[in-house]
Order: sequence, then structure tokens, then C-alpha cells
Amino acid sequence: MVKLAPSILSADFSKLGEEVRDVEKAGADYIHIDVMDGHFVPNITMGPIVVGAVRPVTTLPLDVHLMVEEPDRFIESFAKAGADILSVHVEATKHLHRTIQLIKSYGVKAGVVLNPHTPVDAVKQVLQDLDLVLVMTVNPGFGGQSFIESTLPKIKELHRMKEINGFSYEIEVDGGVNDQTARQCVEAGANVLVAGSAIFDKTDRAAAIKLIRSNS
Ligand code: DX5
Ligand code: ZN
Repeated sequence: MVKLAPSILSADFSKLGEEVRDVEKAGADYIHIDVMDGHFVPNITMGPIVVGAVRPVTTLPLDVHLMVEEPDRFIESFAKAGADILSVHVEATKHLHRTIQLIKSYGVKAGVVLNPHTPVDAVKQVLQDLDLVLVMTVNPGFGGQSFIESTLPKIKELHRMKEINGFSYEIEVDGGVNDQTARQCVEAGANVLVAGSAIFDKTDRAAAIKLIRSNS
């Protein structure tokens, strides 16, 4: 069954703990945490302190999406704060293989993220080492943007390479995922859907999650 990862970027930060508990109760599988540094993306959000604050509130895996330049500098802090999955952008690190090993050295699952324009080829050499590949279906930086359909062939390609080679990475999509766009992601081969506004902008989160699931 497809996994749903609500992005707390669209949550009400004045009551973050309650928001996280609410989506856990509503049937979420992961909690997706969007970290932005104001350099790699034109926005600033949260850091290890927020990951540490969310950690005791939920038993769900914390899926931390690092939209930061030179992520190696922060991996130890996020690992110690309680991240279960740490994903770095291939465009933001010079030595991708080293970064992946660094994440794993803390016992954390390693993911790599592709911007909409970045080809699958950019991660081909490390696919065997990955626990997750995240395909951005919007340009990273903000919640509530429209899904970019031209990214779908990359999801298919990652799925095909996984099947052919027997790799074990999960395929996650992030950006503009809702009850209208979820199905094409899953049909292309994604098994984890991130959704921010499509879940947190609704008052009934259980209904929102159910709607995406039933349309995926
Ligand atoms: C965008 C973030 C996403 C964002 C998704 O840079 O990585 O996780 O929160 O938000 P929606 O689902 O509203 O597009
Ligand atoms: Zn994200």
C-alpha cells in the first residue's frame, strides 16, 4: 500500500505538536520535515531544533528533506535530533557518495532528491546505496505549488531500474500531490507520497488522507 508523508511545512506552527499528533492519528505513515536554508532554495524554514521537538511527539519515522547547500555540515545534528531518513539534494553536494556514507554512519536511512530538471542519470551510480529516492514534482522552496507532469517519466525510470537491478530504495514524490495527481505518481511507480497543503489545509485530516489514498 502507498505510504503518505504529510509535510509539516503547511501545518500551524503555533501548535506543531498537536498538528503532528493529528496526522498520526489520521493515518500518516511518515512525518515529512522540510529544511530550507535560504541559499539552496529561496526560503528559510526549520532546523535540527524542530526535528528534536517533534521527535518525542510521534512514533512515526521522521522523513527529513534537506534543501540546503553542502548538507554534510548538518547531518550529525539532524541525526542526533532524531531523523530516521535524511535526504539530500544531488544538486547541493559535491561528493554524493561521501554524503550518503556519512548519513549511514549515524544509523540513519539515506535518501537523494532530484529537482524537476535533474535527470535520473545524476544518481545512477549510487542507486544501490540508497534507501530512498525523492523526485521533486515542483521546484523546491514553497508549499502549495502546481504539480509538474513532465517529471513522471523519471519516476517510471527509477521504478524500472529498481525492478531490473533488485534495488531496495523507496520512490517518493514531493510537490503538488493531491487527490487529482496522486494516481499518476503511483502508476508511475512511486510508493511514498508527500502532501503538505492537500492535508494540512483541510480541517479533517483523516478525510484528506483517505481521499488521497482512495485516489492513488
Ligand atoms: C517543497 C517541499 C514540499 C512541500 C509540499 O519545497 O519540499 O515538501 O511542503 O507542499 P505541497 O504538498 O503543498 O505541494
Ligand atoms: Zn519536501
